[in-house]
Amino acid sequence: MPDGSSRDASVGPLERGLLVLRALSRAPGGRLRASALVRATGLARSPVDRITTTLLRLGYLREAGGEFALAPPLLALGAAYLRGSGVPGAFGPRARALADALDESVSVAVPDGTGVRFVVQYTRRRALSVSFRVGDLLPAERCAPGALFAAEWDEGHFASWRLRSPGDFAADFPALPPGDASRPAEPALRAVAAQAARRGWSLDDQLLEPGLVAVAVPVPDASGATAAALSVVSHTSRHGVRELRDFALPRMRATAERMSAALAAGAGAPAPRAGADDLTAAAKRDLGPEYLQSLARGLSVLAALGGEPGGMTLSAVAQGTGLPRATARRSLLTLESLGYVAADAGRFRPLPRVLDLGHPVLSRLTLGEIAQPHLAELVAQVGESASTAVLDGRDIRYVGRAAAHRVMSVAITLGTRFPAHATSMGRVLLAGLPPRERAAWLGAAPLPRLTGRTVTDPGALARLLEQVRANGFALVEQELEEGLRSLAVPVRDAEGRVVAAANISMHAGRTSAAQAREDFLPRLRRAADAISADIAVLTAAQDLPPA
Ligand code: PHB
Repeated sequence: MPDGSSRDASVGPLERGLLVLRALSRAPGGRLRASALVRATGLARSPVDRITTTLLRLGYLREAGGEFALAPPLLALGAAYLRGSGVPGAFGPRARALADALDESVSVAVPDGTGVRFVVQYTRRRALSVSFRVGDLLPAERCAPGALFAAEWDEGHFASWRLRSPGDFAADFPALPPGDASRPAEPALRAVAAQAARRGWSLDDQLLEPGLVAVAVPVPDASGATAAALSVVSHTSRHGVRELRDFALPRMRATAERMSAALAAGAGAPAPRAGADDLTAAAKRDLGPEYLQSLARGLSVLAALGGEPGGMTLSAVAQGTGLPRATARRSLLTLESLGYVAADAGRFRPLPRVLDLGHPVLSRLTLGEIAQPHLAELVAQVGESASTAVLDGRDIRYVGRAAAHRVMSVAITLGTRFPAHATSMGRVLLAGLPPRERAAWLGAAPLPRLTGRTVTDPGALARLLEQVRANGFALVEQELEEGLRSLAVPVRDAEGRVVAAANISMHAGRTSAAQAREDFLPRLRRAADAISADIAVLTAAQDLPPA
C-alpha cells in the first residue's frame, strides 16, 4: 500500500512514527540503519532521530550494531488487534484441534484490503514448503482464502487491485516467496471468486510455490458475510489438491460452523473488514491542526484498544490509557484516517492492518533470537558468557548464546549438546517437567560420570531437582567439566511452563559460588523474566517457531 501521501512535512508524529515502524517491518530481519530509514520513509533525518529515540524508550525498538531493530514488545499492538477482534479466542483452539485431527497445517485469515492477512497459524513442522506466520499478508489472487474474500469485493476493491503497483509487489507482500509477481487477468480473478462463492470452498493449487496446496472454506459472521477463511495447507508430496479437498473438507466445514457459532455467541467479534476506500475517505476528513502531538500516546491508544472485543468507546479508551478524552479522540481519529482503526456506532476497534507494524517479522523469531539481546545485555553486566538451552532427549541443546570476550572461555556454539543431568540448565529443565515425565526421565538410563563430582545416582538427582524447583535456580559445580561453574534459571511461557533455561557459566577459580548467587542470580533472573515476557506476547496467537 502506498505511503506517498504521508511524506508531507505537515503530518503528525504518530503518522510518521507508524511510517517508520512500517518501513522497518518491510526490511529484512526488521532492521535498518538510520540513513536507510530516512531513504525508506522519505522523512528528514531529524524527525527520524526523534521517532527512533521515542520508540527506543518505549521498548518497541532496539539498537544493535548500528541498526534499529523491531523488538518483541511491539507485538503488543498486533496482540491488541487480535484480542479485540476475538479471533484467536474464538478460532485458535478449534484451528489447533483441526490441525491435530488432520495432521496438516491449519490457518485462519481475515480480509485486509485486497490482501489476505493470517491471524491464526498452527503449522505442522515439515521440511517442505514455506510457512506463513501470524500477521503475514498475501495477495488475494495467490492463495485459497483470497478467492472467498474477493467474492465479496466491491468495485472499490477491484479498483485498488488494478492499481497495485508491480514495482511495490515485493515490498507490499514481504511474505511472498521471491520472484514470481505474475497475476491473473481481472476477469479470471472474478470468475474464480464467483466459483468459490458458489461452491463454498476454494483451492490453492501451487499458486504461491511449487508443491504448496491449500483448501479454504469461509467462516461467516452472524450476517452471513465472510468474516474469515479457514485453510488447510499441505504439500503435493502428501496430497494432490483435490485429494486434500476430499480428505479435509468435511471436517473443515464442521470446524467452520463451530467457529461461526462462537463468533455469533460473542466469543469474539467478527473480524473487522477494511474497505478499499476507507483510507481515502477518512483522509479527506478535516482533522485540521488536531493531528497528534505525541507518538507515544497514539501507540498507547492502539495498544489499549484490544481491551474489549467488539471495540471500545472513547470513554473506555481514555480511561484505559489515562489520557484526557480530547487527546484520546485525536489519536483515534488519526489512527482511523490511516486505516489502523475502524469506528462505528461510537466504538473504535483495531483493524488487521495493525499487524503490519512488525508482527510478521517478530512472530518469526525463534527462542534463541528472542533471547539474544537479553543475553548480550546480561553478558555486558556480568562479564561472563550467557546461554539458553532446551531439553532434547537426554541432553540440553543450546539455542541462544552470548559469549564474554575472554581469552579463556568455554567453546560452545548453537546446537551444542551436553548431558542434561550434569548441567545447571539441564537441572532447571528437568525440574520443570511434570512429575510423571521427570520420574520417567530419571528412570530411563544411567547418568554418565563426567567428572569426579558428577551426580550419577538417580535418587540423589531427584532430590536435587526438588531443591531446584523450590529455589527457582540451579548452581552446578564442576560436574560437567573441571573448573566450570554454572548458574541457571527457568524461562517460562505465558502459562508458566518451563520452555527453556538461561544460564551464566563461569570459571570456578574466578568467581565464588557466593558471588554467583548474590551478584549474578538477580541479574540472570531479570534477563530470564524479560525473555519470558517476550515469549508470552509472541505466543498469544501461535506456537513458538522451532528453535
Ligand atoms: C497458509 O496458511 O500457510 C496458507 C493458507 C492458504 C494458502 C496458502 C498457505 O492458499
